[in-house]
Amino acid sequence: MGSRILEAKGVKKSYTVGDVTSEVLKGIDMSVEEGEFVAVLGESGSGKSTLLYILAGIDSPTEGSVKLLGRELSSVSDEELAAMRRREVSFVYQFDNLVPHLTAYENIILPLRLDGKKAKECADIVSDVCRFLGIHERLNNLPAQLSGGEQQRVALARALATDPKLIFLDEPTGSLDRERGRQVMELLERINRERGVALVMVTHSAAHAAYASRKVEIEDGLIVK
Ligand SMILES: Nc1ncnc2c1ncn2[C@@H]1O[C@H](COP(=O)(O)OP(=O)(O)OP(=O)(O)O)[C@@H](O)[C@H]1O
Ligand SMILES: [Mg+2]
Repeated sequence: MGSRILEAKGVKKSYTVGDVTSEVLKGIDMSVEEGEFVAVLGESGSGKSTLLYILAGIDSPTEGSVKLLGRELSSVSDEELAAMRRREVSFVYQFDNLVPHLTAYENIILPLRLDGKKAKECADIVSDVCRFLGIHERLNNLPAQLSGGEQQRVALARALATDPKLIFLDEPTGSLDRERGRQVMELLERINRERGVALVMVTHSAAHAAYASRKVEIEDGLIVK
């Protein structure tokens, strides 16, 4: 604990559609320490996903700076950023983005394969993660042959396979019923506690935010508490 792995300063983001420009983020300052579990709350449309994309380097801010794992994102090359995202930082999207024609297993090992790991090596790395998440008996299923909760756990397994320092999660329980949602939250709590992985999770749910060690609330493009 103690080392700062994420620091955003004065982050602003505007979108222009037609001749209308709207400022979605109006100056966000936020930081995350190693091993922390931070929940980001806010109403629909308040800019939570936008902020998460910017913090993860998937999108860039109109103004302001983001330092991720000690590197200023505006001066990191595309290749370096891609390597960081394969090895050190994972992202679980709000809307499921498993590759439909790959099995659960092939989806999970995809980032490792992209990083040049051999098939055998991948099998060794992920077998532990798949057991941890309780999906080891579903690995040959295609995403369409999995329940919503199983798909979400496969997405988590893919995020964990690379042994990242930090995982961004955009409403990881959004499409799940209450019981599945609770199970995913308990898994996330274990991932954070037992593996020391820092989590930055967007959620609508106050009950799910309660699993985090700290809450950040966005309103009208600013952090209000
Ligand atoms: N690519 C884009 N072009 C134009 N406007 C956008 C774009 N992406 C997001 N916005 C606008 O930015 C605002 C914030 O969107 P964002 O997806 O960050 O909200 P959110 O807080 O994640 O909402 P939700 O809880 O519904 O997921 C919305 O008003 C949206 O219309
Ligand atoms: Mg969103």
